[in-house]
Parts: sequence; C-alpha cells; structure tokens
Amino acid sequence: MAGRGQARTNGTAASNKICQFKLVLVGEAGVGKSSLVHRFVKGQFRESHVSTIGAVFLTQTVCLDDTTVKFEIWDTAGQEQYHSLAPMFYRGAQAAIVVYDITNTDTFTHRKDSCAKKWVKELRQAIPNIFIALAGNKADLANKRDVDFQEAQSYADDNSLLFMETSAKTAMNVNEIFMAIAKKLPKNEPQGGGSSAGGRARGGVDLQDTAPQGGGGSKCCGGGN
Ligand code: GTP
Ligand code: MG
Repeated sequence: MAGRGQARTNGTAASNKICQFKLVLVGEAGVGKSSLVHRFVKGQFRESHVSTIGAVFLTQTVCLDDTTVKFEIWDTAGQEQYHSLAPMFYRGAQAAIVVYDITNTDTFTHRKDSCAKKWVKELRQAIPNIFIALAGNKADLANKRDVDFQEAQSYADDNSLLFMETSAKTAMNVNEIFMAIAKKLPKNEPQGGGSSAGGRARGGVDLQDTAPQGGGGSKCCGGGN
C-alpha cells in the first residue's frame, strides 16, 4: 500500500499536462463517503458522523508520471431525502466512487433504494460512459464483516467496476483508489470531444494556464494539506 506521500509529489508532473475530472461519491448514509474524501484531501479521519447535507465540493490533485490530474470531488449526502438531488451533482461526472460499508450488507445489495448496486445502475443509466469504482469501506472492521470480499469482487468484475476495500480510518487503499481512477481516465481526448451528461467532455479537460478553482480543496500534489 502506498503511503500518502507516494500518491502525490510536490509540483506538477514533468510534462505539465494538466487534466481535470469531475468525480462524485455516492452511497448510503454512514458508509463513509465524507470520511474517504476527508482522508484523501486532508489526510485526516473523524470518528463522528456528521451527515452531509446536499453535497460538499472539494478538490484534490494527484500527479501521475506525465500528467497532473485535478479531481473536482462532489461528496453527496446519503440520506434518503437527498437522493432526488443526486443527479444535479453527478451530472457531467467522468468518474464515480460508489461506496458501501463492508459491515452492512444492506448498503451493498438491492435491499434499499440507495445501496451500491442501485447506485451503479442509476449512474450507468444516466451517464453510460462513466468510470465507476466500487469501494467497500470500513475494511478495518473485518471482525464485523457482512459483505464477502469475493462476492463484491465478482459483482465488480461482472459490471466492469474497479474494486477495492478501503478504510478511511486507517487510510488503507484511500489514495490508491483515487490514483487508480486517475490512471484509468482518458487524458488525451480534446476538450469538448465526446460529451457526457451535462455537456462536459468525456476526457480530461486541459487546464493549462487556467487558474486553480476554490471550493475547500487542496493544492497540487498534497503541498497545501
Ligand atoms: P452521509 O453524509 O450521511 O451520507 O454519510 P457518509 O457516507 O459521508 O459517512 P461518514 O463519512 O460521515 O462516516 C459515517 C461514520 O462512519 C462516521 O462515524 C465515521 O467515523 C465512520 N467511518 C467512516 N469510514 C470509516 C472507516 O473506514 N472505518 C471505521 N471504523 N469507521 C468509519
Ligand atoms: Mg457525508
């Protein structure tokens, strides 16, 4: 497992190619969406559950070999009453992390409206080309496991999802899942080519000479965390 420093380096990647991707996190309330984002952006973990209202926007930048990838992250609320707002936040997203809690099978299977499998279906219907990662969070609570790793892996394989078990608490696979997504997203399509829902380019948007955007994010490659 790579440490936090390995996911980001100081400064932009050597080629100065900069791409921006919209990424949305969805999943049931309490599965750890905000905790994963907080761990990735701030490198911290909070024990308390402060339910997200609507959605929270953050940014984080990672450096690949030849490209700097800036994520515009929308951390959505999992509570049922906010579900109808979700399309507003995932519209135009190039990537999503669908999160479930490995200690609660209801957050993975179809039993509730907002379980991981329902979210995968909804996202695919709304944005056919979206890249989806599945995160089985709270992997540190293995003694309370309720979702079998192999079952989730098979589901991910069958549905062409990137799959990792993660722990926002221990940081296990948190940087890794974002890095894996960054690697998978297309970097070479010209801006405006192949739009998805919301009119955003399917590929990375070249941000060369574009001022950094605000929104509670961090500086490139972890330098400002
Ligand atoms: P909503 O905003 O209501 O949709 O919830 P959320 O999915 O954003 O969950 P949140 O990140 O607020 O975490 C819910 C609770 O789970 C908090 O008490 C966290 O401390 C805890 N939690 C989150 N991730 C982990 C983890 O990896 N391991 C453990 N043990 N607890 C976690
Ligand atoms: Mg939240």
